Amino acid sequence: MPQLLNLEDHRRAARRALPRFVFEYVDGAADDEACLARNRRDLDNVILAPRVLRDTSRTDTSVTLFGSTWRYPFAVAPTGLNGLVRPGGDALIAAAAAAMGVPFTLSTASNQRLESVRQTAPTGAQWLQLYVMQDRSIAEQLVARAAAANYQALVLTVDVPLSGNRERDSRNGFKLPMRPTPTLAWDVVSHPRWALRQALGGATTFANLVADPATKLSAQAQAALLARAMDRTLVWESLRWLRSIWSGPLLLKGLLHPADVALALHHGVDGLIVSNHGGRQFDAAPSAISALPAVVDAVQGRIPVLMDSGIRRGTDVARALALGAKAVFIGRPVLYGLAWAGQAGTQAVLQLLGEELERCMALLGTANLEDIGTGALVQH
Ligand SMILES: Cc1cc2nc3c(=O)[nH]c(=O)nc-3n(C[C@H](O)[C@H](O)[C@H](O)COP(=O)(O)O)c2cc1C
Repeated sequence: MPQLLNLEDHRRAARRALPRFVFEYVDGAADDEACLARNRRDLDNVILAPRVLRDTSRTDTSVTLFGSTWRYPFAVAPTGLNGLVRPGGDALIAAAAAAMGVPFTLSTASNQRLESVRQTAPTGAQWLQLYVMQDRSIAEQLVARAAAANYQALVLTVDVPLSGNRERDSRNGFKLPMRPTPTLAWDVVSHPRWALRQALGGATTFANLVADPATKLSAQAQAALLARAMDRTLVWESLRWLRSIWSGPLLLKGLLHPADVALALHHGVDGLIVSNHGGRQFDAAPSAISALPAVVDAVQGRIPVLMDSGIRRGTDVARALALGAKAVFIGRPVLYGLAWAGQAGTQAVLQLLGEELERCMALLGTANLEDIGTGALVQH
């Protein structure tokens, strides 16, 4: 194993392992990628002042949320097309998350069926992320299948009325179905290990959206489904419909405006994930870390608030907790680990983050997560 000291090292290893069009799909963001940069800049500007001479001989990093106890206050964010990074990627990440004792969120746009991913890690906390497409019966079927397969929470993504403008993908000719070009062909053949794995892994499809193998949708129809057919009439009142088909915990992912909090509470949402989709949707959006305090204020402790977008260090996890998040989601770094070393790489990423958090807590003088929220913060 090469010496990978931090998540940026994992990113570099992923860049080497993946064809450019895949790496840039993972790494890229919307428009000018200003929001992507803002996520990092604003996290770096949250300064935590350590307390000294406190007993940190035992640090407790665990948190209990939505019916399960997590070893660390982070979970794997939903990411679509994991199979393009590595065939079987969804199950590999699920297994890594279960081994590390943290929840895994399967995307609607996964490349393996939710039932088969559940079988890989039957005891780990597993959640389903939901995109609602124009044909709402697709969501209804997904939700029923998730309940039957023992998914414990539903994460409704609310920041994708349509797909963000990812110019790196357009430049790379990355859209489904792919049309071969000399540049793409070279990109693939110059990453023979990735190419071989893909060839052996079979076609990458949105397996969850194939209701029944007999009525397999063409790759084109599936791509259209994801790229253009989101239900843009989905509004707050629609949560009543979702509530009528899902009785477990319901989280909204992608909320940034404090004025939306009252609506979420009114509609019986159980948790919020303050997120700008890692900068992949709306380039003018605030960084998630800067949006977090106002959302936490508006929630007034009634439901847990989580956060994602830009977390790359254990200190970033502590920063989010200091500003009121109960836990964070990790997106791209998990895929970096998956890219270069499958389940082992994913596990290495999660473990590194956990170790960094433990070191951070000792240096901050906080033995448990609650203490991070009280007084550690100097300025942001
Ligand atoms: C390659 C990729 C695919 C993603 N696919 C989804 C998805 O299918 N559903 C979703 O809600 N969010 C999706 N996201 C957003 C992540 O869940 C998460 O919000 C974001 O990656 C967090 O930012 P970070 O990558 O800086 O940690 C995706 C992100 C990436 C990088």
